[in-house]
Amino acid sequence: MCDAQEDRLTLVYKAVGRGTRLMTELVPGQLLDALTGLGNGFDLTRARGEVVLAGGGVGCAPLFLLARRLREAGRKVTAVLGFNRAEEIFYEEAFRALGARVLIATMDGSRGTKGFVTDAMPEADSLYVCGPLPMMKAVWKKARGAGQYSLEERMGCGFGVCMGCSIQTAGGSRRVCADGPVFTGEELLWND
Ligand code: FES
Repeated sequence: MCDAQEDRLTLVYKAVGRGTRLMTELVPGQLLDALTGLGNGFDLTRARGEVVLAGGGVGCAPLFLLARRLREAGRKVTAVLGFNRAEEIFYEEAFRALGARVLIATMDGSRGTKGFVTDAMPEADSLYVCGPLPMMKAVWKKARGAGQYSLEERMGCGFGVCMGCSIQTAGGSRRVCADGPVFTGEELLWND
């Protein structure tokens, strides 16, 4: 989920499987069943100093609403957005329009810093992360385990019953859908 304003939700997704391909066939005015308000979210109250948002690919999407809320709270925000190539970049100007500093990294070097998000990421006092697992692990290592990380897992029920999305954390087994998706760096066991 990329943005939420009044009665409007903005979703950004990549068509990679049956579900998301079906979503490409939706037409304006079509009604959908949606289960929302599940799990937790990023904790804005812990933002201080240099606030850095690190996103990888479609994982940049939820950082937009976070950036909006942080800017509304008067925070200076740097968004480091990583993509495979320049054609995949989205919302760069939208982040700038919020007043965020935007740093781009692309794997092929077609825009911004050539390499990973970690190659473009400045030191942060507060760090918020969303993206593919290898990218988040690399950010976690660079940040020495600090920050808040929005995880994703394949989900069965989506509301805490099937346990299919469980991960091991420092506090024991946790469900990404109901106990997360956001976990603090201290909770994550990514040392291996
Ligand atoms: S998807 Fe069923 S408990 Fe998380």
